[in-house]
Amino acid sequence: MAKMWAGVTDGVTEKIADDFNSSIRFDSRMYRQDITGSMTHAAMLAAQGIITNEDADALIAGLEQILADIESGVLPIDMECEDIHMFVEQVLTQRIGDVGKKLHTARSRNDQVALDIRMYLRDEIDEISELTRALIRAVTDQAERYADTIMPGYTHLQRAQPITFGHHLMAYAMMLLRDLDRLADTRKRMNLSPIGCCALAGTTYNTDRRFEAARLGFDGICMNSLDGVSDRDFCVELMSAIATEMMHLSRFSEEIILWSSWEFKFVELSDSYTTGSSIMPQKRNPDMAELVRGKTGRVYGDLMALLTTLKGLPLAYNKDMQEDKEAVFDAVDTVKMCLEVFTGMIATMKAIPENMKRAAQKGFINATDLADYLVKKGMPFRSAYKISGSLVASCIRENTVLEELPLDRYQALSELFDSDLYEAIDLKTCVEKRISEGGTSVASVLAQVEYVKSIL
Ligand code: ARG
Repeated sequence: MAKMWAGVTDGVTEKIADDFNSSIRFDSRMYRQDITGSMTHAAMLAAQGIITNEDADALIAGLEQILADIESGVLPIDMECEDIHMFVEQVLTQRIGDVGKKLHTARSRNDQVALDIRMYLRDEIDEISELTRALIRAVTDQAERYADTIMPGYTHLQRAQPITFGHHLMAYAMMLLRDLDRLADTRKRMNLSPIGCCALAGTTYNTDRRFEAARLGFDGICMNSLDGVSDRDFCVELMSAIATEMMHLSRFSEEIILWSSWEFKFVELSDSYTTGSSIMPQKRNPDMAELVRGKTGRVYGDLMALLTTLKGLPLAYNKDMQEDKEAVFDAVDTVKMCLEVFTGMIATMKAIPENMKRAAQKGFINATDLADYLVKKGMPFRSAYKISGSLVASCIRENTVLEELPLDRYQALSELFDSDLYEAIDLKTCVEKRISEGGTSVASVLAQVEYVKSIL
């Protein structure tokens, strides 16, 4: 069939060229935005006297019916079409006749597609934000539950200082809060309307771009028509925000995978989020966490793909830009799926405090507190650090721990040591004394929980 754009050519193309050119497989998901945009466009054309009110009414009624028919399944989307924009216009013209051909007055598919993606992604940002909030709630609830559960805190994956599991979890709540912020920020910059930029240069018709922008819920309009049709920064920004959020989920996943191993056994994932092995009957695999970690790479790929596509494009629209959709839709779909499964996994995860405690008791994670003990009695920190280090070395040699070393061994190195040192290096004391804001004491963790809840 000849194309709607048949003109200087006869519009007859090879099937293989059509298939190659077509984007309807992936842009049909924007049908609602496309139709809403078109209804608003028709209303604007009438309000400006560019078409009659009767024509606008016919266009809007026809579009409304198409929307209803797509949603009810009466009108299947024709995958042979070039894209969703052509499909809607074609069905409209078949249904209401020549009036349908007036819809594309003072408009191009270039500003039309730019409008549709912005509207589509705006809704997606709202959904991703809601899913992110649900995850933050799940993380925060768990942090509250385990606010006083002692575990080793690590640097270089070496036991460093005692912390609480609640404190560790709240670190992720903070990352996710920043993700929310980035999404909101992206949405703000995305929310400008490109419709009315037309193909690239604007139009000779007396259109009202602000009428359309306001009706479609935009905060304003793109101020340069060339930029309006060729800007995909908002896709890049969104994918970058999503990539960052996936990076957070991936780091969290990595810890959950480690914690679920027999070497750590700090947590147990619920059976409903655990898989087995087809050969090894003993296996409880954290597949959900591994997949989230794996899919993070794929989302980075989406971001890189679009950045690379855009980098050499002259102004204004180029067909290369059709490649924006698969990348950005994939990133959006992936993060939504990951967030949903992650929230369920976290909400049902159980900590094993005995194992955390046991791991915290080895590894001299109270060595800093031992040095601080001497500092508080008047010794300069560097000297105290040295004494604490040599006591740790003795313990390692003698296969014991600081808590078990007799007082005379301490006093041999400094007369500042007294029997209250055992209280000072008790893990519970080490955690409880870290009262600095944002620190690991129970009070501080609960304050973090309150802070996050107040933001949500
Ligand atoms: N399917 C196209 C896209 O996604 C729509 C815009 C087509 N514009 C054009 N001049 N061929 O980018």
